[in-house]
Amino acid sequence: MLSYRHSYHAGNHADVLKHLVQVTILDYLLQKDKPLCYHDTHAGAGLYSLNSEHSQKTAEYQQGIALLWQYQATSAPLARYLQLISDLNPEGELAFYPGSPKIAALMLRPQDTIQATELHPTDFPMLQSQFARRRYTRIENIDAYAGFKAMLPPLAKRGLVLIDPPYELKTEYTDLVAGLNEAYRRFPQATYAIWYPVIERDAVEAFIKAIVGTGIKNQLRIEFCPLPDKAGFGMSGSGMLVINPPYTLAQQMRDALTELAPLLCHTQDNNKQPGSHEHSAGNLWQVSQLVGE
Ligand SMILES: C[S@@+](CC[C@H](N)C(=O)[O-])C[C@H]1O[C@@H](n2cnc3c(N)ncnc32)[C@H](O)[C@@H]1O
Repeated sequence: MLSYRHSYHAGNHADVLKHLVQVTILDYLLQKDKPLCYHDTHAGAGLYSLNSEHSQKTAEYQQGIALLWQYQATSAPLARYLQLISDLNPEGELAFYPGSPKIAALMLRPQDTIQATELHPTDFPMLQSQFARRRYTRIENIDAYAGFKAMLPPLAKRGLVLIDPPYELKTEYTDLVAGLNEAYRRFPQATYAIWYPVIERDAVEAFIKAIVGTGIKNQLRIEFCPLPDKAGFGMSGSGMLVINPPYTLAQQMRDALTELAPLLCHTQDNNKQPGSHEHSAGNLWQVSQLVGE
């Protein structure tokens, strides 16, 4: 049962957060010459037309990337992320948005490896076609967690594993925790970035507790909610749990989110007064160390 299509959601505020974190981690890993491996568990189609019927139907990108893509950022991570988006849209019109594997392809060097798994029968060939000419690439039409067993550890002893399920089924939360344990056992040197939606606050906290409960050390939580909890519009925000984050990541995200939050919030939360209890300027986002090294 695969009803989720990322083409309806590409470029929304959750993608902005996820891809900002992804870009910042990859930038850090790229500082060293040694080859790295990028492994994407739920890769999607790779590239999205924002003029497509799906994008136009939900118009989610209008409350995400469309609000900031031409903004001149001061913080380096935000500037780097926005540069990728503008390079992809050289005509000066926001027509395309890159998915996570495309972002990796735009950033990585020829000696780096890209691995991805994607189950959807329509999205998989779209994804595959974009990597047809790249060396050191492995794209598989298999389940994300079967992919851990089949593809980890990679030859490169360093890298980023992005885990980005659609969370359509309740079991996806427990599957992820079991999958993470398996992946970490095989590839403990990697940085892991796990995306999660904020819909029900209690469910979020239970999920975070389960990830902390794995006993894996060095976990950082980065969360950004443009809407207050229980706003009644579905997803009010999202977060990234990062295991083995670069030591620079926490401060970089604090700087980037300080700049990003007002850009994405003023139109989304225009009925709330600044300083209101659930959603004051101070709790739009958080960057917190969950487990130390
Ligand atoms: C949130 S989207 C991925 C978006 C992508 N990571 C990005 O940032 O551009 C989730 C994707 O996971 C795929 N998917 C769902 N269940 C899966 C599974 N068990 N294994 C692999 N892919 C799966 C869906 O088809 C969908 O394309």
